[in-house]
Amino acid sequence: MMTEQGDAIPVIRRLWPAEALLFRDHMLRLDTDSRRSRFGSSVSEEFVTHYAGRVFRSGSIVMGAFLDGTLRAAGELYPLSEILAQEAEAAFSVETEYQGHGLGTLLMERLILAARNRGIRTLQMNCLAYNRPMQKMARKFDADLAFDSDTVIAQVVAPFPTAMSLAEEANAEARGVAGAIFQAQRDAAGRVFEMFLPTPRAA
Ligand SMILES: CC(C)(COP(=O)(O)OP(=O)(O)OC[C@H]1O[C@@H](n2cnc3c(N)ncnc32)[C@H](O)[C@@H]1OP(=O)(O)O)[C@@H](O)C(=O)NCCC(=O)NCCS
Repeated sequence: MMTEQGDAIPVIRRLWPAEALLFRDHMLRLDTDSRRSRFGSSVSEEFVTHYAGRVFRSGSIVMGAFLDGTLRAAGELYPLSEILAQEAEAAFSVETEYQGHGLGTLLMERLILAARNRGIRTLQMNCLAYNRPMQKMARKFDADLAFDSDTVIAQVVAPFPTAMSLAEEANAEARGVAGAIFQAQRDAAGRVFEMFLPTPRAA
């Protein structure tokens, strides 16, 4: 995928619970409008920090999109009951300068695959009535949209799991982990390289 920020290819992978702080920092980078769109109302930094601390509660799946090693977008999936949930809620956040480049669509594709492989049949997404990008994204996955006065509920039906869909998820995760390892090696090599660069002299 090309982005206006360069030729970075996003690494899409599941976040680990130990990465809750990456998720928090991503959420705190959302601008006021995006944060309001994500949560359906204006929320404080304290609220976001507290929310991020609880994101890996039981059964949730958080998928991240990394560009150059930084988490720039996330998709969250919350089963609506503890046992054998067939319904789940999904929510998305893409940092403002990375919106409109396909990251939300990639994350939704991955969340639908993850839901499908866990026997979840219906994904529900709540957004504000004026949130056209979210509605457009949901429509790409044949969502049914129910309009209320100021909110919209989008429902997407996930197909039944198959051996192919399980293999597809395993492959996608393996690619994501390989991408994370590659990025960590690049970062480490960059730090070593910096150690050997001459330090700029004070003027
Ligand atoms: C809604 C959101 C998740 C979409 O993610 P994204 O990466 O920007 O979306 P994509 O680039 O995958 O595009 C999805 C569709 O929306 C359209 N779209 C994206 N930005 C748009 C904009 N500013 N205005 C109109 N349409 C827009 C795209 O054209 C695309 O449709 P297309 O492929 O038919 O052209 C993202 O904008 C976001 O995080 N917004 C703030 C938080 C939020 O609203 N979350 C949703 C509620 S949980």
